[in-house]
Amino acid sequence: MDSIVASQLPITANVNDLGHLEVGGRDLVDLQREYGSPLYVFDEATLRENCRIWKRAFEDHVPRVQMFYAAKALAYSGILDVIRQEGWGVDVVSEGEIRAARHVGFSSKDVVFHGNNKTPDELRLALEFGTKVVVVDNEYELSVLSDLATQAGKTVPVMIRVNPDVDPHTHEHISTGQLDSKFGLPISTGLAEKVCRQASEAPGIKPVGIHFHLGSQIETVEPYLAAIDLAMKFGAEMTQKYDFRLDFFSPGGGFGVRQNGTEVPTPEYFASRISERFQESARQLGVALPTLLLELGRSVVAQAAVAVYMVGSLKHIDGVRSFAAVDGGMSDNIRPALYGAEYPIAVANRMDEPATQSYRIVGKYCESGDVLVNEAKLPTLEHGDLLVMPMVGAYAPAMASNYNMAYKPAVIMVSEGEVRMIRRRESFEDLIRLES
Ligand code: LLP
Repeated sequence: MDSIVASQLPITANVNDLGHLEVGGRDLVDLQREYGSPLYVFDEATLRENCRIWKRAFEDHVPRVQMFYAAKALAYSGILDVIRQEGWGVDVVSEGEIRAARHVGFSSKDVVFHGNNKTPDELRLALEFGTKVVVVDNEYELSVLSDLATQAGKTVPVMIRVNPDVDPHTHEHISTGQLDSKFGLPISTGLAEKVCRQASEAPGIKPVGIHFHLGSQIETVEPYLAAIDLAMKFGAEMTQKYDFRLDFFSPGGGFGVRQNGTEVPTPEYFASRISERFQESARQLGVALPTLLLELGRSVVAQAAVAVYMVGSLKHIDGVRSFAAVDGGMSDNIRPALYGAEYPIAVANRMDEPATQSYRIVGKYCESGDVLVNEAKLPTLEHGDLLVMPMVGAYAPAMASNYNMAYKPAVIMVSEGEVRMIRRRESFEDLIRLES
């Protein structure tokens, strides 16, 4: 098996005597026959292992830490439930995600509420549910929340999301730490301080911490370290100037995963360097060490799933290239088109065969940009071959659409040979049900 593919598959993956790829003790060829394609197959063991590795990595280094899963990476109940069982909380950004968290039984104390334009209804729901904290992103939100809390006779713990103006060196669409961002309150322009002061004075509001999030798929630790210095210093200042507590501190999430050959730091490395700097900074500033809150999405779920596609049309254009079209594409995974995301790919039913041919792997949707893999080296493909794409657990099914009236794919979970349906494939009836 190609070593890049091997390093990105779920931990239970292996090739059986038929040369087929197995995940969670199940042959992907059999699974495709039973559930059709495109098919998203989650490996429960990988999901649990990622939860444990990251949790342990931080707990080994900081006395008080709480792990949150960023539900936006994929909020299906079957996924959230496993993560809840692993002792994680959840970071939510919408009414739907608040309800999903509640639906699978997260305690309100294990839910943090994010977003740059939370609606009054969403804030009301968060208040009702009693989320651990609301992470305040702007002045308007603070004033609406203060009014709602006062009306409800409640006091809401809030963290202030600051913008430290640190470039995380990731794709511009998933970069949030730079000054020119819709997220967070810049420290450098004074806006963050203004909102901290307002929070300290607003009725119904209790400021309890500082939050930042630099972006996603961050591949080095340095941006975190720089931002921790700035945000901790700022937080300490707020505690001196205002009625502001620094009980909690969060550097967000965004830890990068291997993408088609790129290397990223290990969880242990990210966790030890971040924890060290966080504690060092508290010592230097002379503040009591806050509880560290982490919010991981991609690094928890990406590697836990593979997508299975069937090859349909094959087209060779002399002197140009060969195209292999599959039965899915940008409707179930927009990431290559949107971010230039690179995924490795292999032939699930012929894992042992040498890669001899170059193909562009394209989807079936009516756009030239519907390309899943720009150039893949594979054995000579035949109609009906099954392609397997690793690392698709994060943000692929979560961002799936019904473009071209595509049915969102089935998502299943495998564990020790058993299969659980996480979300069945959509049907025409599902799509038409909401129309009048
Ligand atoms: N915390 C906050 C406040 C966030 O906005 C995000 C992600 C996370 C945590 C989790 O970041 P992660 O650990 O998953 O990198 N759709 C894009 C990714 C958007 C990320 C948005 N925010 C993609 O497919 O790459």
